[in-house]
Amino acid sequence: MKFQSTHKRGENWASDVVVLPLCVSDLGKSPLLKRLDRALKGNITKTFHQEKFKGKWGETKLIATHGALRTRYFWFVGCGPEKDFRCDYLRRAGGHVARLARQHQFQKVAWLPLQRKDWGKTIADDCQAITEGILLGSYEFSRYKKSKNPLHLSEVRFMEIPKGVRDLAQKIRLGCVVAESVTLARDLVNTPAKDMTPHQLGLEAKKALKGISVRLYSKKDLKRFKMGAYLAVAQGSTQPPTMVHMQYRPASRSQGTIVLVGKGVTFDSGGISLKPPTSMETMKDDMAGSAAVIGAMKAIAQIKPPVTVHGIVPATENMPSGSAIKPGDVVRAMNGKTIEILNTDAEGRLTLADALVFGQRFKPDVVIDVATLTGACVIALGEKCAGLMTPDKSLSDRLLQSAEKCGEKMWPLPLLEEYKEEIESPIADVKNNGGRWAGTITAGLFLKEFVNPKIPWAHIDIAGPSWTDKENDLGPRGGTGSMVATLVHFVTHYSQSLGSS
Ligand code: BES
Ligand code: MN
Ligand code: ZN
Repeated sequence: MKFQSTHKRGENWASDVVVLPLCVSDLGKSPLLKRLDRALKGNITKTFHQEKFKGKWGETKLIATHGALRTRYFWFVGCGPEKDFRCDYLRRAGGHVARLARQHQFQKVAWLPLQRKDWGKTIADDCQAITEGILLGSYEFSRYKKSKNPLHLSEVRFMEIPKGVRDLAQKIRLGCVVAESVTLARDLVNTPAKDMTPHQLGLEAKKALKGISVRLYSKKDLKRFKMGAYLAVAQGSTQPPTMVHMQYRPASRSQGTIVLVGKGVTFDSGGISLKPPTSMETMKDDMAGSAAVIGAMKAIAQIKPPVTVHGIVPATENMPSGSAIKPGDVVRAMNGKTIEILNTDAEGRLTLADALVFGQRFKPDVVIDVATLTGACVIALGEKCAGLMTPDKSLSDRLLQSAEKCGEKMWPLPLLEEYKEEIESPIADVKNNGGRWAGTITAGLFLKEFVNPKIPWAHIDIAGPSWTDKENDLGPRGGTGSMVATLVHFVTHYSQSLGSS
């Protein structure tokens, strides 16, 4: 898809549709709207009045020009009262328009600016969000379909852009890079576990990450590293585990080292602590944390920030079999700590324990793990919001800010020391199951046992937002690519945020 920008008037290009986002107060006032209305002989105002279009968020109106202008349609998108406006509304509007474009087989879309207060300063960010929205809203996963639904949309022009806007082309490009990386993460999640095996996940990372180093570690390597917890999860499956280590290094002197760890359970049956059938239906999604990390690495390799970034994915299946771990087994992680495994379905934290220990070899300034770790997080925060756990206040602030900027929902949960007793084992150093209450927090506390307290670390539980059962403006049912954008924003603003904190 081609994205361009121009100062020219929207209605004079032979597009299929001209999109104009409007805040409530723009109705009857916006000079842009007045001009388009005159060109259609007052038809827009009349339609708004008759059909009670007020410009509320979520309201849209398609009006045909019937040959009066070179464009075929106007599409007005309500953005609510200006005081409540968020840039993410434009991302969602972009997605909405992309889905409409597919339905109406539109090829060319012109997009006019939302002229809110100081819009000259925000327009580059607005266009980035719209670009992301259009590309994500166009997403389909058709790999297994005979009849594919073709996308006609091929050209988007941001029109009536004032001259001399800083960073516009660069931000549009960034929007494309982010959306392509989110798309990669969605594809990885949506591919059935049969085809997205641990080894295949490693091969996909290699394929997608041209230009940065990707190393795959085999079961033999994991044994050499003494990754007893990760290996315990893998031992029940006929698919061998594969640990993926991706490494991006800046060309100039590195200003810091970030380690990203993603849970990569390509299928979670629960193991001997078998899940009920309906809970298993979407468990190909249990590698969404690794998809977020691989997706982020793809964008990072293109944006080239001045920091070193390691991406680590301990990929495995979690299966029941004669060779599977049993409840009550005790295993030893790479850092020497022993773990009593009471529930084989609490497997993610076992794989992450060893991956976190491994990641700390690279002397990171910060470690972030992303994981579909607990059903309890979906109970606590719902299907649209990630849980953030970290002992580091400044890291928490920076991650929350990145998520907010990217339109991803994330909320902090406390790593209360008071609950540490829940994961104490009578026979080992820790146990892998903290019981019924605060399951997301006790999982976070378990991971904390494997991180050097001197290293700033954050854990993001994406069990909710990594998957959507219902289609929405930004995509169909399935994997969402959750946290790709947030990780990319965090990493690319990392050295800046150090200066300001
Ligand atoms: N992968 C699941 C968590 C999950 C649940 C992700 C629902 C997405 C949607 C994880 O491995 C798991 O099974 N967790 C258990 C932990 C429990 C046994 C301590 C859970 O949440 O029930
Ligand atoms: Mn599980
Ligand atoms: Zn799991």
